[in-house]
Amino acid sequence: MHADTLLVRGTIVFTPDAGAFAVHPASYLVVRNGLVCGLFEQLPSEYAAASVVDYGARLIIPGFVDLHTHAAQFFQQGLGLDRPLLTWLERYTFPQEARLADPAYAKEAYEAFAAELLRQGTTRAAVYGSIHAETVRSLAEILTQKGIGAYVGKVNMDSRCPAGLREETAASLRETEALLADWPGGPFVKPILTPRFAPVCSRALLGGLGELAQRYQAPVQSHLAETREEAALVQALFPEFEEYHEVYDAFGLFGQTPTLMAHCLYLSDKAIARMRQQGVVAVHCPDSNLNLGSGVMPVRKLLSAGVPIGLGTDVGAGHTLSMRQAIIRAVQLSKLPQIVETSGAALSLAEAFYLATKGGGAFFGRVGSFEPGYSFDALVVEPERSGLSPVEALQQFIYADRAERIVARYVAGRKLQ
Ligand code: GUN
Ligand code: FE
Repeated sequence: MHADTLLVRGTIVFTPDAGAFAVHPASYLVVRNGLVCGLFEQLPSEYAAASVVDYGARLIIPGFVDLHTHAAQFFQQGLGLDRPLLTWLERYTFPQEARLADPAYAKEAYEAFAAELLRQGTTRAAVYGSIHAETVRSLAEILTQKGIGAYVGKVNMDSRCPAGLREETAASLRETEALLADWPGGPFVKPILTPRFAPVCSRALLGGLGELAQRYQAPVQSHLAETREEAALVQALFPEFEEYHEVYDAFGLFGQTPTLMAHCLYLSDKAIARMRQQGVVAVHCPDSNLNLGSGVMPVRKLLSAGVPIGLGTDVGAGHTLSMRQAIIRAVQLSKLPQIVETSGAALSLAEAFYLATKGGGAFFGRVGSFEPGYSFDALVVEPERSGLSPVEALQQFIYADRAERIVARYVAGRKLQ
């Protein structure tokens, strides 16, 4: 047998599509070079002599994919969440992010952030640092060292933000390119261009980042149409464009390379059609949207329109790195009566789980499922009690908020810590 083969046994639950959970009790996953190569009820004879990691009655599920979160805001968790977005940014977030210039403070924050990601069962994440290239390097190194798969972005902003955080356009582009050219992360931690959002970016900065995206074939992440106030501000600042998304699109930051757009609450049908056409991923951050009173993402409408969707915690506007909480809140929010009336049926738990695993995982390649060819990113979960069906055990794991039930974590076939 191949030296890099891993055999695990347990109750395997995942969502190959959003419709329902696939449940395989007492089954085996064969993993070769970090990738799933088969799922079996009976182990094929070629593996008869191999040793199996037997998790007994425990669940084996895909690790969670957090498609939008801010490592630089981890230490402001829970602060100022009774304010609206623009006030919260000014009073809490910008002063906090200014502190990430300090390497010692950044190291402390990013170590704590990475440990909490893992504790919560997140195995892949798209992460914002701050504007500071040096401490973004240390964030990439810490995530690499912990074995988490991630896209990591140095934030770019050169307009309408406090002096301490306002970059000079040319320096912002130069430092970003230097990071791309000499990236500190390992094979599972990659760079992503991160214009914060249109209101704090000049046309020159957006254009320069679009060129870097093209030249380095680098992915992009930003915020789009999170609040009405922000959308009106973009309209006033960029009057040559009819709609918010056209600002990113015009500068090559809207699906010209793989692109994540957080929030996507206030979009026209035309904008939604463009997202679908460009394969731009909408990241649903339900807790953040509730905390800041931003509104509710029309998740059913976007799903029906064929826009790719993932879930994000959006810490610090979200108050927890728990992707189980993001799943719960996505299902809860989709049940608000007015949303049901205007946007169709509520989300099932399987659908929300799909968004938190395979849906978001697609941004990383074949991630978030246990079909052949998928990266073996997994959590092993001890059910709260015996006598539950596998889906009931998974429901309870998600809703009961006890991360200590996660007894093992794998990324690309490698068991973490
Ligand atoms: N829009 C621009 N920056 C931010 C941020 O840090 N958090 C959230 N939620 N929205 C933003
Ligand atoms: Fe955000």
